[in-house]
Amino acid sequence: MEKKELINGGKVKSVFTTDNEDQVIIEFRDDMTAGDGERKEVMNNKGAYNAVISTKIFRVLEENGVETQLIDLPQPNVMLAKKLEMIPIEVIVRNIATGSLVRKYPIADGTKLEPPIVQMDFKADEYHDPMLNDSIIKALGIATQEEIDILTEKALKINEVLTEFFADAGIILVDFKVEFGKDKDGNILLGDEISPDGCRLWDSETLDMLDKELFRKGKDNEVMDAYVEVYNRIIPDDEKVI
Ligand code: C5P
Repeated sequence: MEKKELINGGKVKSVFTTDNEDQVIIEFRDDMTAGDGERKEVMNNKGAYNAVISTKIFRVLEENGVETQLIDLPQPNVMLAKKLEMIPIEVIVRNIATGSLVRKYPIADGTKLEPPIVQMDFKADEYHDPMLNDSIIKALGIATQEEIDILTEKALKINEVLTEFFADAGIILVDFKVEFGKDKDGNILLGDEISPDGCRLWDSETLDMLDKELFRKGKDNEVMDAYVEVYNRIIPDDEKVI
């Protein structure tokens, strides 16, 4: 398996073509960014921790009937994946109100959201990822109503599976972002990553943050300890590769 052409140099991951035209190699770099990429630091081994965490989560989701783009993790920071045409929507699920929700709407930080909120943002840094609704998505030609319904259903299923998975590790899944894409047959699969970069994870006992919010708040020296804590709690010893 060989990296050929760089097809997407993202903020924290690089996607390469490989010998098989239906597959891609996703390299998780050690970069950490905040504020639409305005602030960027390099964090030791962060790429590997995120790739291993994301691989574990994708495997758990597959076991629960959620198809993902994951094929294999040949190196701790390198994922082999099915090639997808990504849909430029960030699907966000919220179980507890915090972050941008409490900044934009009159709802108290920490309010339990039952049922959870499913929100779709336009993945476009130049527009600062504005929130979409069904009519805007259709007007922009991003997805059909049927596809919007599939994304919503899949995001809620992922929330159900991962809320329980993290609870078993003493972690509250507060909110998270997922991205989807279409494979060569047009099936919608979960893509990208699910890691502490795109989730809010709180310790169930102390409510300490175990995710990128620490970096967003300038606590750069605490953030990798939090990622390692998540890794240690969810990766069984015989699956540890870092
Ligand atoms: O900032 P906000 O409260 O909207 O974030 C909701 C969730 O989506 C958080 O878990 C955050 O990590 C994630 N998110 C993300 N990438 C973005 C925006 C939000 O991963 N561009």
